[in-house]
Amino acid sequence: MAQMEWQEAYSVGNPVLDGQHKELIALVNKVGDDVDLGEVLAGLRRYGETHFDTEESLLEAAGYPDLEDHKKFHDAFRDWLDGVMAACRAGEDDAAVRRDIHHYLRVWLANHLLVHDKAYASWLTKTPELSLDQ
Ligand SMILES: [Fe+2]
Repeated sequence: MAQMEWQEAYSVGNPVLDGQHKELIALVNKVGDDVDLGEVLAGLRRYGETHFDTEESLLEAAGYPDLEDHKKFHDAFRDWLDGVMAACRAGEDDAAVRRDIHHYLRVWLANHLLVHDKAYASWLTKTPELSLDQ
């Protein structure tokens, strides 16, 4: 399965968030490996929570006007992942399921980084008096 690779286009201009996004990419890539799917998804759920907390706190402190909408994208991801984890616990874990999950995660993360995270990154560049650096 194709792995996801970090690209400069994903950068939001903040080293902490870029570092967390790189870690998320690494976790998504693990779904493509021959590992315990439930464990990898649980790890992704935990790390996703840490990352969403960091990102949302920084955006709140910076006064990002579309934060509530941005949080909804994070919520939708949590809901989707919870559903997938429940299905895995119910025994749905074969090569096809794993391929679909891996595909969804790569598409979701690339889209989230390039569209929704980029939206706050470009808002911040247009608002130079504000910054994500605390
Ligand atoms: Fe985000």
